[in-house]
Amino acid sequence: MDMDKIVCNCYSITNGGIKEAVDNGATTLDEVMEVTGAGTICGACVDDVKRLVEQFVAEKK
Ligand code: FES
Repeated sequence: MDMDKIVCNCYSITNGGIKEAVDNGATTLDEVMEVTGAGTICGACVDDVKRLVEQFVAEKK
């Protein structure tokens, strides 16, 4: 996965930014949205963010 790829354009949050939030303890979409701001403006990225959160959480186990 390209960690520098932007997933949320509104906040310029990258795949790596989502991973970092999960690494720092966020385990749900809501928590990641709260920590990073991703998905909280236009919402267009929410499905992508959700997919990433689920993937990174699964990888952490
Ligand atoms: S692209 Fe993420 S909130 Fe708009």
